[in-house]
Amino acid sequence: MTQFDFNQKTSREGTYSVQYEGTEALFGAKGLEPFWIADMDIQTPVMIRDAIKKRLDNGIFGYTMWQNERFYGPVKHWWKTRFNISLNEADIHYAASVLYTVGEVIRQTTEEGDGVILTTPSYNSFPNLIQGNDRKIIESPLVYDEDKKEYFLDTESFKKLCERDDVSLYIHCNPHNPTGKVWTLSELKEIKQICKDNNVYLISDEIHMDFVRPKEDFVSVASLLEEDDAVLVTTGLGKSFNLASIPHSYFITKDRHLTADINSAMGSRYNVNTASSLALAAIEAAYTECGGWIDQLNEHIEENFQLISDYIDEHLSDVLSFDIPKATYLGWISFEKSGLDAAKVHQALVEVGGIAVSPGKLYLDHENNHFRFNAASSRARIEDGLERIRKTFEHLSK
Ligand SMILES: Cc1ncc(COP(=O)(O)O)c(C=O)c1O
Repeated sequence: MTQFDFNQKTSREGTYSVQYEGTEALFGAKGLEPFWIADMDIQTPVMIRDAIKKRLDNGIFGYTMWQNERFYGPVKHWWKTRFNISLNEADIHYAASVLYTVGEVIRQTTEEGDGVILTTPSYNSFPNLIQGNDRKIIESPLVYDEDKKEYFLDTESFKKLCERDDVSLYIHCNPHNPTGKVWTLSELKEIKQICKDNNVYLISDEIHMDFVRPKEDFVSVASLLEEDDAVLVTTGLGKSFNLASIPHSYFITKDRHLTADINSAMGSRYNVNTASSLALAAIEAAYTECGGWIDQLNEHIEENFQLISDYIDEHLSDVLSFDIPKATYLGWISFEKSGLDAAKVHQALVEVGGIAVSPGKLYLDHENNHFRFNAASSRARIEDGLERIRKTFEHLSK
């Protein structure tokens, strides 16, 4: 089997990447080493690049349909071979992006002023979308279990929030960004039932689904769908194959009513109902040829996380705590035990360490005593990032 090298040095020079060119504006300093946004310093597999090149050679990029076997076939193949889920074509729909779909579900299933539940800490674009659409954020804080070293949903409080008259939607992140939590079948069943009992719409964002380790532990909400359920799963290949700048996504639902409303909005209100020809070429190659690649990538990410964990144990155990996440390529690192002032830590990471990591408060971690560290890079870059973190805390401890 082909062995892939994820330690190759990559360059984004001249590509106007947000990770590099966007860092100075956001963090207010030049020359920072970035580990914040969720894309990878790892090239998209050559099989996908070849498929895109082949599509480019045709030379015509006019309006393109996705309703055909070269889209459905690879999607069904991926879900069957990776997750043992048999999808029906009638339940699969292409959409412009995952966040477009989340936004549209917010607009379609809630009214202005309504409450939308998020588990916190939360991926930062969810609060932005809720507020940007004039809805209210309702927080259901995840509880950290010190013994199990895992986050859990407080189902009693979640239920109470769902019972509120002003709450009509819950945005679920499966697996969870930023904590890396993998939800179990029983947790998902309980969440789905609570939502159903209280007429709360359930959307499950599963964009990180290909980064569950081991992959057999991933349970998709799609496996629980029944006819007309008020549930929608949205996902895409943006994270899995580093394709964020080739916008696309797809959603899976048996809610025919909402599907019709979303498709009608995409057609009439926004006119975004055709597909990206390059995305379709990428999806076909990824979902038919790249299973081995993503398995090896997950091994590489696991090794990077082990490196981070060992480094923290050896050099930073008095100030940092870190649990290797079972999913995503994002490390959620706590400096709570250092007792240091959160604002000072985030400032020193930039000014002393010269590193850009995402501060906890971005994810509604109100104590702000975490940072999110992207581990989808070469080992050498991770080592460099760790040294920058060490330098920061050595300075703060003086
Ligand atoms: C949970 C989650 N959903 C959605 C996105 C973005 O998806 P898209 O680019 O398809 O809108 C991200 C990107 O970090 C994410 O972490």
